[in-house]
Amino acid sequence: MTQARRPLIAGNWKMNGLAATGLALARDIAAWREAGDPGCDIVLCPPATLVRAVGEAISDSAVAVGGQDCHPAESGAHTGDISAPMLLDAGCSYVILGHSERRQDHGETNELVRAKVEAALRAGLIAILCVGESADERDRGVALGAVARQLGGSLPEAARPDRVVVAYEPVWAIGTGRTPTHPEIQEMHAHLRALLGRAMTGGEATRLLYGGSVKPDNARGILGLPDVDGALVGGASLKADDFWAIVQSCR
Ligand code: PGA
Repeated sequence: MTQARRPLIAGNWKMNGLAATGLALARDIAAWREAGDPGCDIVLCPPATLVRAVGEAISDSAVAVGGQDCHPAESGAHTGDISAPMLLDAGCSYVILGHSERRQDHGETNELVRAKVEAALRAGLIAILCVGESADERDRGVALGAVARQLGGSLPEAARPDRVVVAYEPVWAIGTGRTPTHPEIQEMHAHLRALLGRAMTGGEATRLLYGGSVKPDNARGILGLPDVDGALVGGASLKADDFWAIVQSCR
């Protein structure tokens, strides 16, 4: 990790958290952040029901709030969906897009993810675009190509290195306790950095997060890799102590 790209630690709460637990978790993180700069940016991505309340609870801190998805349109007849301007209005500055759970559970294609990233950028949000190979693709030795196709299909023309963050999340590492080896992570991140350099002017400067079973005991090793600029943390972001230990591993 090079400090030219300030690291980002993002907590993806997924479908977890009621008001009492969620606000307490967010307040702990914000209080620790305000006690001193840990050397990285922090964003918490609670479920949509808590976005505004979390944002208000930590509004005095440097901790940002993000959504976990948005619709490509600004408004309209889309029952159950939330638009990028709505997330902005509720206090978000980031949004996670193309997470593998949405690609799987909701059949999201690269084309749809690209339209969502475009919507996020139009609204002024920073898009955290997720890509990652399946276990089968890793086993068959085609992970680099699979991830390149995902990135090529879901990164819009309008993307800019300071408005997009790319998260490499191997599907088989999410919530499983398994992670790729350090050389495998570094190889994929270097590959993504080269692809981003070709896709955007200055694209090499895009922040690249690793996600998938990041825990306090493996964070320092992963975050120390040259092309890893932070982490997208699921399970361990639900415990304040664990998440904060990961934040502190940026140094
Ligand atoms: P995990 O999830 O840390 O629980 O593996 C990561 C993610 O899905 O963003």
